[in-house]
Amino acid sequence: MSLAADQRAVESLLAFWADAGAEALYADAPIDRLAEGAAMLRAKSQPPPPVAVARPVVSRGPDVGSAVAMAKAAAAACNDLESLAAAIAAFDGCPLKTQGAKQAVFSRGAADAPLMIIGEGPGADEDAQGQPFVGRAGKLLDRMIKAAGLEGRVFITNTVFWRPPGNRTPTPQEQAACAPFVERAIALVKPKMLMLAGGASAKSVLKREEGILSMRGRWFEWVSDDKSIELPAMPTLHPAFLLRTPAQKKKAWQDLLTVTERLDRPERPH
Ligand code: URA
Repeated sequence: MSLAADQRAVESLLAFWADAGAEALYADAPIDRLAEGAAMLRAKSQPPPPVAVARPVVSRGPDVGSAVAMAKAAAAACNDLESLAAAIAAFDGCPLKTQGAKQAVFSRGAADAPLMIIGEGPGADEDAQGQPFVGRAGKLLDRMIKAAGLEGRVFITNTVFWRPPGNRTPTPQEQAACAPFVERAIALVKPKMLMLAGGASAKSVLKREEGILSMRGRWFEWVSDDKSIELPAMPTLHPAFLLRTPAQKKKAWQDLLTVTERLDRPERPH
């Protein structure tokens, strides 16, 4: 037989076995597939090696109860926003203060604003500049505020005043330690309503567990700890989320328009 005929015979034999479902060729030395299978089963039944889980670094400060009590006492002693800012900077009850933040970041905006926007917590830009919402997300927020005609009518703060390391979400304990200062800011500014930017803010301020996508765009009632203040509060999507998912901007814009419409609605005579 010629070489070409040999080649054709081999090809046709391989095609025959391939049609018959054979997918592998045997090696020169035998392979004990049963032993391989048993080894795989043994490996599977071993407990998996421990995996390093990234957990938020939460350093131990005072326990939450004492931190909240300290914050309440410090906040109650403040009769204006300047002394409140100083009291926050001097406060040692929030564990975030000792986790790498450069400074306390309290607020910006009009001291008598009818709308208070409460975000989650400072990021890198805010930590560097000492003011909330001054990074990319803040620029977007400012553009939205301006477009809604609310420029100069907004006071902006966060649920925590120190940058969480790595921009992680603040823990409920960290938020609880800062909450009396947020509450005092509300009492001093006396806004007509609150807007809560992002799930971490909405959950903490309203003490609710629902996700932001179900809470946004709805009115809730915020009641101060001592029950002396009641305000309408609307959760909305966080501007940093809008930067990542621009298709959602429409919803946040709708929320801001709803808030603006209520702010500008003439008050009914009592
Ligand atoms: N994100 C927030 O929630 N607050 C800021 O101040 C900045 C970014």
